[in-house]
Amino acid sequence: MRSTNRQVAVLLAILMGTLACGSSEGVARPVERLSGQAGAPGIGDSDFPLDGNGGYDVSHYALKLGYTPSSRRLDGVATIQATAKQGLSQFNLDLKGFKVGEVSVDGAAAAFSRTGHELTVTPAAPLRQGSAFNVKVAYAGVPQPVVDSSNLGRYGFIPTPDGAFVACEPNGARTWFPGNDHPADKATFDFEITVPKGVTALANGELTGKPQTSGDLTTFKWREAHPMATYLATATVGRFQLREGKTPGGIRALAAVDPKFTRSLDKLYKLSAEITDYWGTVFGRYPFSSTGGVIDDFTAGYALENQTKPLYGGFDPGEDIIAHELAHQWFGNSLSIERWRDLWLNEGFATYAEWLWAEHKGTGTADASFRAFYERPAKDPIWTYPPGRAKPSDLFNESVYNRGAMTLHALRGAIGDETFFKLLKTWTSEHQYGNVTTEQFVTLAERLSGKQLDTLFDTWLFQPGRPAI
Ligand code: TRP
Ligand code: ZN
Repeated sequence: MRSTNRQVAVLLAILMGTLACGSSEGVARPVERLSGQAGAPGIGDSDFPLDGNGGYDVSHYALKLGYTPSSRRLDGVATIQATAKQGLSQFNLDLKGFKVGEVSVDGAAAAFSRTGHELTVTPAAPLRQGSAFNVKVAYAGVPQPVVDSSNLGRYGFIPTPDGAFVACEPNGARTWFPGNDHPADKATFDFEITVPKGVTALANGELTGKPQTSGDLTTFKWREAHPMATYLATATVGRFQLREGKTPGGIRALAAVDPKFTRSLDKLYKLSAEITDYWGTVFGRYPFSSTGGVIDDFTAGYALENQTKPLYGGFDPGEDIIAHELAHQWFGNSLSIERWRDLWLNEGFATYAEWLWAEHKGTGTADASFRAFYERPAKDPIWTYPPGRAKPSDLFNESVYNRGAMTLHALRGAIGDETFFKLLKTWTSEHQYGNVTTEQFVTLAERLSGKQLDTLFDTWLFQPGRPAI
C-alpha cells in the first residue's frame, strides 16, 4: 500500500472505530484519538440493536430515588460502577425520558447528550481499557412506561394511584434508571427509596436496616447482593400489608399485598415458601438470600419474576403461576439469557415447572399436559412459531412458553428421568449467576446423556410443524 492510501485507510479505521489501541506503525495521529473510542450504542443483540451498550460492563448500581405518587415525580441519583472493556472516549447509558441534571465520571463533571433512549456520556478524560470507573447521573421527571413493544402492552415504571407498579421485561428498566439495559450485563444493586410516610417501597433482595421516617417521608434501603439483570429490578411502591419470616427450609421470605388482597396474604406467603423449598430439591439450592411475592392492585393481568420478589398484577395468583415465577429464580434470574432469541430457556423451563408442580401435587402429570398441547390444531401458534428463536416483534408468543415446555418433555422422554433431572441441576449449578445460550444447553444435554440430540432439539425448537412422537 502506498503511504497516502495507507493514511487514508488508517483514518478510515479510526472513523469506523475499528482501530485497535497501540497498533502504531509510524503514522502520525493525534494521541487522544488512540486513547479511546466511542462505546457501541447496543450490547450486540441484533434483535434489539440499541438495547444495552458496548464497551463497558456494570458491576453495581446504587439507586437513590425519591418518588411522590400524587405528582408521579421521580427524582433519582444513580451511581454505577463499571469496568471499561476497551479504551473509551465516550459511552452510552439507556434512559427513557427524564431531565438529566448532571453527569460525572469518577467525580469529575462529564459532558452528555441525548438521542432517543441513549444517554451519551463523554468523560473529561478517556477511560483506559480494563479500568474501573463510576458514573453518577442525576435525573428527574415523570416516568414514561414503554407501550406495546414486543406484544406486551405497558411495562416499566407504571404509576398507580398509591405508588408504582414496576415490571420491566424486556427493556423497561430505562423507564426509571440509567443503565446497561440488557440481561447480558448483570450487576448487584443497592436501592434507597424515599416515599411518603405510610407508603411502602419494595425492591429486590433484603432490607439493610429498618425503614427510617423523618417528617412526612420514609426511606427504605434494599440490597440485592447477587447479580441481577436490569429487567428484574423493581421499586414497587404503594400501601402494602406484609408478612415476613422463613420458609420451612430456612430461607428468608416476605409476602406483600395491596389491602384489596388482604385475604390472599397468608396463602401467597405459605405457597411461595413451600414452592421455593420444593424447587430447591429439584433445581438445586435456591440461588438468592430471600424469596416471596408481591400482589399489587394494578390490573396488569400478568406477573413478572422480579428477583426475590415476583410481582402479581392485580390478581390472586394460583399455585401454577407462583410455581412458574419462582422457577424463574433459577431459569432466567440466576441463569440469564445472553440474547432475547433464547427466551425459551426462561419461559419454556418456567412453564415446564408448572407441569412438574402439578405432578408433585398429584393433580396432573407432565405427560398429560404435554398431550393436551400436542392435540392442538395445525394452525395453533405452537406449530407455526418455532420457539427456539423468539421473534423480537412477538417475543412472548405462547409457543415460547408451551412448546418450549414440550421440548423439555420430549427431551425427558429421550434421556430418561434420572439423566433429565440431573441435567436440570447441573445446568443451574454450572451457570449459576451467569449467562447462557441454547447451544450451551444442547451441549450439556448431549454430554450428560451420551446421546446425539441435534435432531430432537432442531425439530422441537427450530422447525415449524408438529414433530412426530
Ligand atoms: N416473564 C413474564 C412471565 O413469567 C411475562 C412478562 C414479560 C411480563 N414481560 C413482562 C410481565 C412485563 C410483566 C411485565 O410470564
Ligand atoms: Zn415466565
